[in-house]
Amino acid sequence: MLLLTGATGFIGRAIAARARATGRPLAVLARGRDGLDAHARVAAALGETARGIDVIEGELSADGVAVAPAALGRLRERVETVIHCAGDTSFAPQVVEPFVAAHVNGPVALLRALAGGRLQRWAQVSTAFVCGARSGTVYEHEGDVGQAFHNPYERAKLRAEEAVRAAGAACGVDVRVLRPSIVVGAAPSTAGGNPSNLFFAFIRLAAALAQWPGAAEARLRVAGAPQAAFNLVPLEYVADATLVLAEHPDASGGTFHLVVRDAPRQRLMAAMLAERLGLAGLTLLDAATEPLASPSSLERQVARMIEPYRDYFLQDLRFDDAVAAAVLARAGIARPTLGPADVARLVDVALLSESRSLVSPPNG
Ligand SMILES: NC(=O)c1ccc[n+]([C@@H]2O[C@H](COP(=O)([O-])OP(=O)(O)OC[C@H]3O[C@@H](n4cnc5c(N)ncnc54)[C@H](OP(=O)(O)O)[C@@H]3O)[C@@H](O)[C@H]2O)c1
Repeated sequence: MLLLTGATGFIGRAIAARARATGRPLAVLARGRDGLDAHARVAAALGETARGIDVIEGELSADGVAVAPAALGRLRERVETVIHCAGDTSFAPQVVEPFVAAHVNGPVALLRALAGGRLQRWAQVSTAFVCGARSGTVYEHEGDVGQAFHNPYERAKLRAEEAVRAAGAACGVDVRVLRPSIVVGAAPSTAGGNPSNLFFAFIRLAAALAQWPGAAEARLRVAGAPQAAFNLVPLEYVADATLVLAEHPDASGGTFHLVVRDAPRQRLMAAMLAERLGLAGLTLLDAATEPLASPSSLERQVARMIEPYRDYFLQDLRFDDAVAAAVLARAGIARPTLGPADVARLVDVALLSESRSLVSPPNG
């Protein structure tokens, strides 16, 4: 059996749906919140997919793992693989040390509690941004190279990788680390879904602008880093790759970037979006050299929307994924691309997506 944490979240929902589609027996560890127990929350998040899933109520925290002893015993007897996808994805937690400790102690306690039963493999969903504020090419074998971090989130994710690897080595559990870049797909309103929702909200706003009577003259200038890579990765690929890398024998002990290799430069991405949306006035400025002079209210709105992700938008990084690509090719998983056809598909998803629009449409 497979045990998944984080199934009520953006990425976990997609992993659960794909695992169920293969008929794999699945248990999920989820917490009760807002007056609902774990079963109700998993049912609300997964809909039909929730049928047949063994829901275990529990929480991972700085104090370890809180799960009823009987449920833990059942998991020990049945779970061969854990995909640990739960995580608090806020960049700026109110109190930092408990936040870091929850990322580290919760999964380590769960791994130790299950080790000695049937558990063989642990797949840790981390982030490509454990590289912190580095620039240039980042390789999958690299971890702590003394990098600075943008926020406590990145540091917590790296510390969690290290702690889970050490716990796995001590308990004889095969730990694999998966590092997605910025994941995009139809997303719920969770912190993890926010980058995707913001990107989609931007697309919807640009699409609305393109429908304006004065669209031919409409300008939408965005400050970024035109030469930097736009490191998005599609949700479907992340879910498929995670399920394979969690259990494939060739992935044993590995660390894997789940990314679009040679992701398009921001300038090209903006051009592809402008072309697809029919919005010739969509322009990417270089924040370092071209200040956004006399911004319109719409341009100010977009700048505010991007602000929480500004550091990432200005960072020039290439994530090498040679190790992931080799294993996934053997498993028949095609490498993701971000060309015009993929951008067109993302635009379609954004325009059809039910996720909440985070910006108001232009007046007029
Ligand atoms: N979204 C991205 O672009 C991205 C990119 C790279 C890596 N990641 C990583 O991918 C993983 C999933 O992220 P996401 O985007 O799906 O985030 P999300 O939508 O915010 O979902 C987070 C999930 O983790 C659960 N969770 C959080 N704290 C928990 C705790 N203390 N105990 C038990 N469950 C807890 C949440 O449960 P509740 O529903 O109970 O809150 C939810 O199911 C995270 O580890 C994140 O660091 C995300």
